[in-house]
Amino acid sequence: MKRIKKIAKRFVSGLLILVILLVVLISMRQNLKFEAPYPDVRASSDSNVINRGRHIVFSQAHCADCHSKQNADSLLELGIEPALSGGRLFDVGIAKIYTPNLTSDSVYGLGRRTDGEIARVIRYGVHANGNAVLNFMGFANMSDDDLTAVVSYLRTQKPVHEPVPSPEYSMMGKTVKAFLIKPVGPSHAVEKHIKPDSSIAYGEYIVTSTTNCAGCHTKRDLSGKFTGPLMAGGNNVEGLISPNLTPDSSSRIFGWSEQTFIERMRLGKINPASPMPWNSFKRMTDLELKAIYRYLKSIPAAKTPAVDE
Ligand code: HEC
Ligand code: HEC
Repeated sequence: MKRIKKIAKRFVSGLLILVILLVVLISMRQNLKFEAPYPDVRASSDSNVINRGRHIVFSQAHCADCHSKQNADSLLELGIEPALSGGRLFDVGIAKIYTPNLTSDSVYGLGRRTDGEIARVIRYGVHANGNAVLNFMGFANMSDDDLTAVVSYLRTQKPVHEPVPSPEYSMMGKTVKAFLIKPVGPSHAVEKHIKPDSSIAYGEYIVTSTTNCAGCHTKRDLSGKFTGPLMAGGNNVEGLISPNLTPDSSSRIFGWSEQTFIERMRLGKINPASPMPWNSFKRMTDLELKAIYRYLKSIPAAKTPAVDE
């Protein structure tokens, strides 16, 4: 009996030491630094470049839907461009993340970042301080020209002198951060220039690199890796299931003409609970919407994978 007690005691103290070691290791790994190059991107003061950037920010890349207050969507619906002062809360279960202030404020905003630091965090997912950013954005493959346009527009934002709360991680969140979160960079060599036209190639670029249609309309695992057929839907996004947009007969857009598709995209949000940034996307040009439609018609037809609840 004594022997068993002794063994049990040893076991418990051994376990305790292990837990303490793990907690120490986790806390030591909360500030991991990653290396990534600074893209050769410099803000331009050319008004064409700035206007292009503004268009990408408020339509395709829907930066305002995330980097603004919760009411950004209703302002966008009224045609107002909200300040990119951040502060929207994403409660992802293991962490509460508030989006950063992207205005030119030099204390709380991007006024304190270089062009290279801004471009690097968008392309390589590495913060100015070397930490990995959570993979919310999906713009790693954005062309040099488009990234330059975005940074150029961001530099023209009036400063909003407002702090944003720091992220809060649960113990589980800290464990995930310590061992699993890594920066996500481009999946292939990034193009310098991409000509905007109504081609399938430009549609593919928009869908996969500047709008994140693919990120929501393709089933993914927790780390963000695609596990279902491209654009076949089945993703649970904030409680709503993204529909299939492939040419399959079960697709939501099966039988839609180009005109029907463009009209639907322009209509904006119908289901008020939809997480899709409709009021940004409806600002896309006809050319961009045509390119998306043509690309969606060109990809392999696939059935929607089973949905995880
Ligand atoms: C789906 C939501 C979402 C969209 C869309 C989005 N962002 Fe972000 N962004 C975030 C979140 C969340 C963070 C903070 C992530 C972290 O710190 O782990 C962030 C971080 C950043 C940072 C780092 C800021 C800093 O303090 O260094 C920059 C720069 C940035 N975003 C720019 C943009 C731009 C420009 C766009 C549009 C082209 C954009 N984001 C679109 C959610 C989004
Ligand atoms: C943040 C996630 C998200 C993003 C990004 C997103 N979608 Fe969606 N989409 C959804 C969800 C969820 C639904 C179902 C709810 C709804 O209809 O609004 C949906 C519905 C749709 C529908 C069906 C509408 C209808 O009336 O039946 C179309 C078409 C569509 N998306 C196209 C696109 C295109 C094109 C893009 C990129 C430009 C895109 N989506 C980006 C989540 C997203």
